[in-house]
Amino acid sequence: MMCYDKMQGGQSFNTIIWLILVASAIGCGCLRPGVEGGVGVNWGTMASHPLPPRIVVNMLQANNISKVKLFDADPNVVAAFAGTNIEVMIAIPNDMLDGIAASTDAADSWVRDNVTQYLFQGGVNIRYVAVGNEPFLKAYNGTFQNVTVPALENIQNSLLNANLGGQVKAIVPLNADVLSDGNSQLPSAGTFRGDIQPIMKDLLSLLDKNQAPFTVNIYPYLSLQQNPNFPKDYAFFDGAANPIMDGSHVYTNVFDANYDLLVSALIGIGFPNMSIIVGEVGWPTDGEMSANILSAQKFNQELLKHVLSNIGTPLRPGLPLEVYLFALIDEDQKSIAPGNFERHWGIFTFDGQSKYPLDLTGQGQNGSLLKASDVKYLPFRWCVLNPDGDMSKLAENVAYACTYADCTALTYGSSCNSIGGPGNASYAFNSYYQLTNQNADSCYFEGLGMVTTADPSTDSCKFMIEIALSSGLRGPSASLLMPFAGLIALFFFSF
Ligand SMILES: *[C@@H]1O[C@H](CO)[C@@H](O)[C@H](O)[C@H]1NC(C)=O
Ligand SMILES: *[C@@H]1O[C@H](CO)[C@@H](O)[C@H](O)[C@H]1NC(C)=O
Ligand SMILES: *[C@@H]1O[C@H](CO)[C@@H](O)[C@H](O)[C@H]1NC(C)=O
Ligand SMILES: *[C@@H]1O[C@H](CO)[C@@H](O)[C@H](O)[C@H]1NC(C)=O
Ligand SMILES: *[C@@H]1O[C@H](CO)[C@@H](O)[C@H](O)[C@H]1NC(C)=O
Ligand SMILES: *[C@@H]1O[C@H](CO)[C@@H](O)[C@H](O)[C@H]1NC(C)=O
Ligand SMILES: *[C@@H]1O[C@H](CO)[C@@H](O)[C@H](O)[C@H]1NC(C)=O
Repeated sequence: MMCYDKMQGGQSFNTIIWLILVASAIGCGCLRPGVEGGVGVNWGTMASHPLPPRIVVNMLQANNISKVKLFDADPNVVAAFAGTNIEVMIAIPNDMLDGIAASTDAADSWVRDNVTQYLFQGGVNIRYVAVGNEPFLKAYNGTFQNVTVPALENIQNSLLNANLGGQVKAIVPLNADVLSDGNSQLPSAGTFRGDIQPIMKDLLSLLDKNQAPFTVNIYPYLSLQQNPNFPKDYAFFDGAANPIMDGSHVYTNVFDANYDLLVSALIGIGFPNMSIIVGEVGWPTDGEMSANILSAQKFNQELLKHVLSNIGTPLRPGLPLEVYLFALIDEDQKSIAPGNFERHWGIFTFDGQSKYPLDLTGQGQNGSLLKASDVKYLPFRWCVLNPDGDMSKLAENVAYACTYADCTALTYGSSCNSIGGPGNASYAFNSYYQLTNQNADSCYFEGLGMVTTADPSTDSCKFMIEIALSSGLRGPSASLLMPFAGLIALFFFSF
């Protein structure tokens, strides 16, 4: 996953579609098969203490989650799916695209090592290979524009040469910023962004030739987060009282509007029957005002109900939707460049606890998700502020801890924002102490830290105990243990 992977800055696409205009929209007939519909999850592993893959796969099975989208092809993760029948999407990271674009041999080896080797009887049910992740994101300044389609073509050919063309499809997950509404704010006006039109034509021809779906990431949360005037109901599938009319089509939620913006763009560019997967959609639970448990539960539950009702969207009525929730688990090492919410997209916490009830069948009945079992933790102890320490050194020590550890829950509007100045310091110290596997020296903080066995958590603010890393899994780097190496104050505290 790249730094900007959730970023969708400023494009008109994010603005609410509210103008009333008469426009003709072309209804879409029967699409070719390829997307069966349903709900999967994105499993990213940018965590300091990732859950062991076996535990995650067991948790997926316990909750009847049958589709998973990954961001790479880590053999420890992919192999854990052997014998499960869970559909897996593996991925080629953006930084490998130029090598694969330049060499059919590189593509062949990638497919051999990362696809073919798992396809034995009782192996892994690999359905898709994602070639890059949002490679045309505006923030990348065109870095991957010339290599994505050639890489896709090489991977498709490698799959065909391995006789896997029917079974495994190569796709390219794209951020919704590949789309434009020409400032009309109507789904029917959807087109592909001007600068990538020729590339999109080539990409769509390749997908079409191989009967592979188009994959787009849709984020109503970002529409709301970036525009305080965005009508909330419309984000939460609740806009029936104030629908948006687009010709004869009625829009009551921004998910459908964004989806049909893509459908319109596909019609316009000559691929009206292209099937669509929503590669990422979700709502974070912390790190920002509108990122909280209640909103995330409401959005995801309404989304699942909508997707699994098989209503489809106004431009594709009755057609099955296939979506992958973002995300399965929180990731404490994700870049927070797009915002402090980035580390809190999970429907499960970093350690596989269910954050809120969610009915994955879309029936709204018994929504309890089953938590991960057999999780091994570090000892139950925390690092907190020692009230007898030298407070003149507090700010720099807190800043140091938060430079490395995850302090995003302290942000304004977040779960730990109201625990007070000393609480802030304790939270920061503990995050760092856990990150470093409770290393004894990492609770020193120039005499300001002390270890306790009394849980400092409050009702809303959880002080974590990290997962015990099993041997072979990567831990935090040694540089974390070097006090004050390259101090960068990411957080500023007032006491
Ligand atoms: C999973 O599916 C099986 C078979 O359909 C069902 O018996 C079980 O209750 C489901 N479990 C959950 C957690 O939904
Ligand atoms: C297989 O995938 C892994 C993880 O993405 C990558 O490191 C490795 O280079 C890939 N194998 C080949 C032959 O490209
Ligand atoms: C893209 O360009 C902007 C403005 O020139 C720059 O700030 C940014 O770092 C560039 N991003 C990448 C990924 O090259
Ligand atoms: C991509 O190709 C175009 C046309 O050949 C060229 O102008 C552009 O500089 C290339 N971009 C990169 C990042 O190589
Ligand atoms: C799309 O599907 C319809 C109905 O099957 C068909 O009539 C039409 O020719 C297709 N269009 C294209 C561009 O393939
Ligand atoms: C959901 O099912 C679980 C397990 O069967 C049960 O413990 C729980 O009470 C049920 N919750 C609701 C709201 O029905
Ligand atoms: C705790 O830290 C957060 C994040 O920097 C800040 O918003 C809040 O005001 C602090 N609380 C106190 C009492 O200093």
